Amino acid sequence: MNNAARTPVVLGVESSCDETGFGIVTEGRLLGQGLASSAMEHADFGGVVPEIAARAHLEAAVPTLQIALDDAGVDLQDITHVAATSGPGLATAVHVGLASAKAIAWSLDVPLYGVHHLAGHAAADVLEHGPLPERSIVLIVSGGHTSILAVGDLVRDPIEHLGDTLDDAAGEAFDKVSRLLGLGYPGGPAISRAAVDGDPSAFSFPRAMMRPGDAPYTFSFSGLKTAVARTVETLERRGEPVPVADIAASFEQAVVDVLVAKALRAVAERGLDTLVIVGGVAANARLRAVADRACAERGIDLRIPPPRLCTDNGAMIAAVGDLLARAGAPAHTLAIGADPSAVLHGAQLPLPR
Ligand code: KG4
Ligand code: ZN
Repeated sequence: MNNAARTPVVLGVESSCDETGFGIVTEGRLLGQGLASSAMEHADFGGVVPEIAARAHLEAAVPTLQIALDDAGVDLQDITHVAATSGPGLATAVHVGLASAKAIAWSLDVPLYGVHHLAGHAAADVLEHGPLPERSIVLIVSGGHTSILAVGDLVRDPIEHLGDTLDDAAGEAFDKVSRLLGLGYPGGPAISRAAVDGDPSAFSFPRAMMRPGDAPYTFSFSGLKTAVARTVETLERRGEPVPVADIAASFEQAVVDVLVAKALRAVAERGLDTLVIVGGVAANARLRAVADRACAERGIDLRIPPPRLCTDNGAMIAAVGDLLARAGAPAHTLAIGADPSAVLHGAQLPLPR
């Protein structure tokens, strides 16, 4: 195999949803990336259509790879390792990126790592803020997942799951509420824009799973979505105008309050001093501001990647590959398949026994 003994220059490939991402990372440093999105092609459907996403990945793969190489000032032959999201995600979409990654790894004769997408979200922060501390709490808030994790060394230690959502993920709630307010897809940025002029205390929407006996790290957002729907229906029935900005701001505040309260509780109960917030919803300005204030008050080190590294991208997958390569982790073979519902146990998807 070529290149494996040199300083790793890792190509990351991401295609689990509607973003086609290629990123190039060396020793914890992002050299460059390319990103294409099919989000607009899904707008009419109100959510991602897997077949459309897969076709878009196929068309975008080579041009986006070229953008990443040009951005990094790196030749394809300089790549020493390839890492690709092999799950979780939309099966047809994951297959395209994984097949591209296999073709690249095979043609360069370099190792291939199948990476867990959510570990990629956490690793994105390493590119911005350097290595993670010995232990930290990671709040992952994306379109498909909402989880609180206790994390040590991302590639060596098992990831401990403290809690997840019972129903909708935080990003999914943004997307669904955006649709019912007529703000379109993707919902997070649309709600955020609408909320800027709104009053976050205009409507008191429910904060679920916050009572004393409730599981402390478990989330539920479907009741919140229903409460917003009821509010809109009631106003429309009465022929009253729907105050979109106030509803968007109040909804956003309800989500943010719960996310921050539960994450802070995990940090306190574990006796830790670092909170990492990652995933698409971590791009949300209100979440960033509220978490920032709360962590500053408590002396907690808050790490949130810049918004462009919060939403799906190839750099975050390259960041995991770079950690794996530097740790000397064994590579997958080219026989690796996609695991659309992969559970998060570690950064790398399990190797065949
Ligand atoms: O992590 P991500 O890019 O993809 C998944 O792994 O799911 O997250 C996408 C989710 C979408 O639900 C999108 O609406 C949400 O992140 N999102 C936001 C913002 N930007 C993206 N949610 C709230 N505020 C934002 N600014
Ligand atoms: Zn994601």
